[in-house]
Amino acid sequence: MRSVVLAMMTTVDGRLDDPGAWVPGVGDDVYTEIERNFADFDTILVGRTTYAEMVAYWPDAEAGGDAFVGSNANINHRMAQKMNAYQKYVFSRQEPKATLEWNNAEQVLARHDDDIRTFVQELKSRPGGKIHLAGGAQLAQTFVRLGLVDEFDFKVHPVVAGGAHWFDHVAIGLDLELVSATHHENGVLGVRYRPASKSG
Ligand SMILES: NC(=O)c1ccc[n+]([C@@H]2O[C@H](COP(=O)([O-])OP(=O)(O)OC[C@H]3O[C@@H](n4cnc5c(N)ncnc54)[C@H](OP(=O)(O)O)[C@@H]3O)[C@@H](O)[C@H]2O)c1
Repeated sequence: MRSVVLAMMTTVDGRLDDPGAWVPGVGDDVYTEIERNFADFDTILVGRTTYAEMVAYWPDAEAGGDAFVGSNANINHRMAQKMNAYQKYVFSRQEPKATLEWNNAEQVLARHDDDIRTFVQELKSRPGGKIHLAGGAQLAQTFVRLGLVDEFDFKVHPVVAGGAHWFDHVAIGLDLELVSATHHENGVLGVRYRPASKSG
């Protein structure tokens, strides 16, 4: 059965927004691990706000038009190829106004929790790889509340940064079990958890 993985970057205090303000650079070994993990994905689930940011960046990054420099520019280019090729589902509560312009992107009209449950159940029943729940916080928190996240994959950056947080509006408690922890050169911790209720 395919699993839904909430893969994201955060600060020690759980910041979500404006990663450029608190990620000084992704770090070679961190980006290598992200690339390895992303090889398991073939589908991305994303909220409309995060979609707008992604479509403004990734197509241009593959075409060579972005300003990404540094030793992991090659990884960034390969990531851009993957991002552009993945099947992308963009969640909204509103009727689509126009066809989405990004390759393999489709809107999911979800007015009620049941629309999301049914969509995810059907998606997981199809053959395919892991499903990347990319965020942002609004969409991720709905998935957490509905018990639809099978794994949490955090890259925790060694900084306290204020800002908007991932889980401010999750009104449930969720016990997690550690799957793995990786310590990176730049102080980033890669931690993977799964809900205790889904183990064994
Ligand atoms: N740190 C990281 O790794 C990371 C990763 C991803 C994103 N981000 C950041 O996250 C921020 C955006 O997050 P956000 O929480 O503001 O927005 P978001 O979740 O990306 O998008 C919000 C929109 O998605 C739709 N949506 C959300 N939940 C829904 C639901 N349950 N059912 C149907 N539609 C739903 C709605 O669209 P409609 O208004 O069209 O109905 C809503 O307005 C950005 O700052 C971005 O940079 C950070």
